[in-house]
Amino acid sequence: MLVYDNSALKAMREAGLRLTEVIHALRERIQPGVTGLELDQYAEQAILRTGAEPSFKGYQGYPATICLSVDDVVIHGIPNKKPLLPGQLVSVDLGLVYKGWHSDAAFSVMLAPAEESKLKLMDVTLQALKAGVAKVAPGVRLGDVSSEIQRVAESAGYGIVKDFTGHGIGRALHEEPPVPNFGRRNSGPILKPYQFLAIEPMVTAGSGCVVIDGDGWTVRTCEGVAAAHFEYTVAVTEEGVEVLTPHV
Ligand code: MF3
Ligand code: CO
Repeated sequence: MLVYDNSALKAMREAGLRLTEVIHALRERIQPGVTGLELDQYAEQAILRTGAEPSFKGYQGYPATICLSVDDVVIHGIPNKKPLLPGQLVSVDLGLVYKGWHSDAAFSVMLAPAEESKLKLMDVTLQALKAGVAKVAPGVRLGDVSSEIQRVAESAGYGIVKDFTGHGIGRALHEEPPVPNFGRRNSGPILKPYQFLAIEPMVTAGSGCVVIDGDGWTVRTCEGVAAAHFEYTVAVTEEGVEVLTPHV
């Protein structure tokens, strides 16, 4: 497991700040009628304007700056020319690299007219993320974080996606350890100061079962039900935890 130092924390704050800024500007533009490709181009330009670079584009051949996942698409939706429609649950995932340091974050929004069931799913997913983050502190075992995320989602009747996880982050987008959104308390690696984690619950209104489309990227719920996704990049600090991408 990679452990960095205080200069790394300062650099990661810079990467996190830039991503948070881009997310705020991007979120305003997610409206019916806009296309995924338009949002992708906006995000790319906005990231470049901060002096950073998109980290997803070209990653294992991924073709875009953002992932845009609508309704039953959980993650890794590829932006396309289709305009967004009223009532859709839209999840956006994006990452950047600034001076060699990575930040990664995701959020879901509901386009009006709001549907109660989708709003509840989004709210529980965000609460699961926040509850997991609240467990992060030096000396805590990662399973305590994972199991808390799982508890919040499942006690609301939702299914955790188990085929994909969060991850360590820092000099690379994906580092050790994997950060599952399920697990057992008092298990897993012990967290240490100056460790960076991307924590990202993916929650479905079904069982958590997912399938991948023929494009090799798009991850959908097996049942065709909606999914939500929220992600923060966080730092384990001497005092506890610091959210480096506090976009919501
Ligand atoms: N945030 C996602 C992750 O942490 C997205 C990366 S996949 C990519 O895995 F290919 F789009 F970069
Ligand atoms: Co991630």
